[in-house]
Amino acid sequence: MTDNVKLTNKTSDMAGADAANKANTTQKSEQLDTVREDATNQALTTNQGVKIADNQNSLKAGIRGSTLLEDFIFREKMTHFDHERIPERIVHARGVGAHGYFQAYEGNERLTKAGFLTDPSIQTPIFVRFSPVQGPRGSADTVRDIRGFAIKFYTQEGNFDLVGNNVPVFFVQDGIKFPDFVHALKPEPDTEIPTGASAHDTFWDFVSLVPESAHAVIWAMSDRAIPRNLRSMQGFGVHTFRLINAAGKAHFVKFHWTPKQGLSALVWDEAQKLCGKDPDFHRRDLYEAIEQGAYPEWELGVQIVEEQDEMKFDFDLLDPTKIIPEELVPVTPIGRFVLNRNVDNFFAETEQVAFCPGHIVPGIDFTNDPLLQARLFSYTDTQLSRLGGPNFHQIPINKPVCPFHNNQRDAMHQHIVHKGQASYQPNSIDQNWPVETPPAAENGGFESYYEKVSGQKIRARSESFSDHFSQPRLYYKSLAPHEQKHVVDAYTFELSKVKRKHIRERQVQQILANIDLDLARQVGANLGIEVPDLSLDFKPQAVEKSAKLSMLAFPPADIQGRKIAVLIHNMIQSEALETMRNWAIKEGAILHLLAPSLAPVKDHKDNVIMADGMQMSEPSIAYDAVIIPDGDNLNAVMQDGVTRHYVLEAYKHLKPIVFLGNKSDLLEPLGLVADEGTLIEDDFKHVSEKLKNLLKAHRVWSREQIAQHVPA
Ligand code: HEM
Repeated sequence: MTDNVKLTNKTSDMAGADAANKANTTQKSEQLDTVREDATNQALTTNQGVKIADNQNSLKAGIRGSTLLEDFIFREKMTHFDHERIPERIVHARGVGAHGYFQAYEGNERLTKAGFLTDPSIQTPIFVRFSPVQGPRGSADTVRDIRGFAIKFYTQEGNFDLVGNNVPVFFVQDGIKFPDFVHALKPEPDTEIPTGASAHDTFWDFVSLVPESAHAVIWAMSDRAIPRNLRSMQGFGVHTFRLINAAGKAHFVKFHWTPKQGLSALVWDEAQKLCGKDPDFHRRDLYEAIEQGAYPEWELGVQIVEEQDEMKFDFDLLDPTKIIPEELVPVTPIGRFVLNRNVDNFFAETEQVAFCPGHIVPGIDFTNDPLLQARLFSYTDTQLSRLGGPNFHQIPINKPVCPFHNNQRDAMHQHIVHKGQASYQPNSIDQNWPVETPPAAENGGFESYYEKVSGQKIRARSESFSDHFSQPRLYYKSLAPHEQKHVVDAYTFELSKVKRKHIRERQVQQILANIDLDLARQVGANLGIEVPDLSLDFKPQAVEKSAKLSMLAFPPADIQGRKIAVLIHNMIQSEALETMRNWAIKEGAILHLLAPSLAPVKDHKDNVIMADGMQMSEPSIAYDAVIIPDGDNLNAVMQDGVTRHYVLEAYKHLKPIVFLGNKSDLLEPLGLVADEGTLIEDDFKHVSEKLKNLLKAHRVWSREQIAQHVPA
């Protein structure tokens, strides 16, 4: 296992077996090796192994004659093709996955007996899949949406799936409301519009009628729902779970995973443009980062609550629309995971992986959160039809790395040849094998937590779930001013797409006004909706502002994998390029030279420089910063509409721009104001540190107001 493959400043050409990350291996990867297939140097055959002599022509009666039914080679090929597609996931249909490993920190025994969480010497193989919720498989990556964040841990005690999201709360409190919520969110049934977006009547109709959704909706209207890339998102288990130690003592926990890369978001205009210019932006970024050795890493942490403190909060721990503010319960780090290997085959791995919140191992258990309880049923149920029967645990990506034996038999796609006569228990024919394992402190059989349950059958919601507005208010109040403005802009944008006036009014007057009057008034003013003078009657909360809700609370450790565009033209002074390249390699950043065309560029000494791409096809929205090198070409640059737009757009999207030498003369004619994000220098060496710091801050937020006037 290697964690430190050398960074190169080059993305690999293909997902070839020789890519550096393909050397990263785990027990799961070795298991997959037994089914990985490489057809190099092999004959083309039918599925029955018959060598094929002609794969270009079907068998015909005469050279211009009709095709013969007898052509078993054609029939087999076409039949297989006809059935290549399987149903997509009902939600989270679009996704991207990668392999890696998890390693626990010391000292978790007090919390759990799960081996993979307590033995720091084990590197547990994992497979992670990230996925927006609403859109179908072919939808764009950068839509405004919550992102799924699902991890399968292939532990020695069985598979554990932590099927979370990139926001810590959900839209409904009880699973029986999930189909209603998803029907409202999905494209409208008559037009199948919009794809991948929530800016439409049925979504806002539902959420404005269901106040419990207010908290998740405000997260979805924040920058969290337009991540810059998947590597810079937090993840959350959402529900409260239980960890149980070897002595049988349980603690409530909420799972958090925090990216080493820091948190970052797109700006809304950029997100929308990317949907068209690079709909695969997120999956490409993850793939390329892994290919070039910038392995993304997250720390897994838990908020721990003693059993006896279950009722001590002003919200219910079982309510999935609530967070525990970190001021009340801090996050305790328990391990880290790294993604260091791309898949070999998207369908076989990313598409066929089947996560389920019900996949747990000894030392972990559920709580009675009514949303979680519903999920325990739903995932396997849907996978029965998505993956064609009950044997999908045998599909290589889903198979545990530890042994599994039981008396379940037959059914579609059975791959195991079970020996023996007795597929029942008790039996005396096969000596009763396989046998049960009693629960134990280590390597025991699974035992449910010994929770006392009593009550009458009742269809009702606990009164402790009834406060729907305090926490969305806490969230809004905890954001930085520019983040609050983005929330106002997002509600405005989305509601402006809602055709029915009464739905827009209900959302502003009855939901937003109950969260925060100022928020409601700003959105109301944009939409022409009056906001009544409510006197809001909030229960006093233990926490009025929570520091860890703003994305600013999670700066990145470095600028690995950040992309910088260098706009080159003929007559450029190419000496600076070498300095930039060396700096980028040292920082793990990616530097691309972009020219007006792919024809070679000549520098001021007539040397040829090969570009990495064209400015037209590699737009500024795909980069984190722009550099315009010095050269005797100011007029040519000024007259290049693509370059002008490039700079304007980068400026508008609050990106750092480096103007070297005479290129600072571009600012005035473009109508741009110099600021802390416009670095003007003769020598790149003098700005490289400033550029690094600006890249770490992600955006030049102080420019936001003035950038509104830039037409790009
Ligand atoms: C009662 C509430 C919910 C129900 C019934 C439900 C149901 C489903 C279903 C049927 C799928 C498709 C599974 C498949 O085809 O493999 C799915 C996917 C997913 N759900 Fe949920 N869900 C619920 C709530 C949640 C919540 C609260 C979260 C986050 C904490 C979540 C996270 C995910 C993720 C990440 C996926 C994609 C898994 C993958 O990558 O394959 N869901 N959900």
